Amino acid sequence: MSQYFTIFIGAPVWWGDWPMIMYTFFENNADRLAGKTLVPFSTHEGSGLSGFDKKLSSACPDATVSDGLAIRGNDCQNDQESVRKKVSEWIAGLGY
Ligand SMILES: Cc1cc2nc3c(=O)[nH]c(=O)nc-3n(C[C@H](O)[C@H](O)[C@H](O)COP(=O)(O)O)c2cc1C
Repeated sequence: MSQYFTIFIGAPVWWGDWPMIMYTFFENNADRLAGKTLVPFSTHEGSGLSGFDKKLSSACPDATVSDGLAIRGNDCQNDQESVRKKVSEWIAGLGY
């Protein structure tokens, strides 16, 4: 990860939170994630981003966390055109 300044990190919302394996990833990579810009995104079925951004900030206090994106998992399968549009707008809004 050392060659990247910005890292997009996404996962499905499980029980209103990042899946536990993601917390293991944050913990195991705390040194590598420090100083990076982290961009969270979720798939969900109603809970939205579920505080992924704040929880990521708490788990990686030495990183900068950008505005995240929440997309319904069902839309990823059945409404890909609208998902592509949302992702494009989000990426553009982040300045990419
Ligand atoms: C164990 C489990 C817990 C879940 N909890 C939530 C939840 O709290 N809120 C929500 O909106 N969706 C919840 N979901 C739905 C997932 O977020 C959804 O299935 C996922 O985003 C779609 O990705 P997938 O195709 O990898 O399952 C849950 C799914 C599972 C399997």
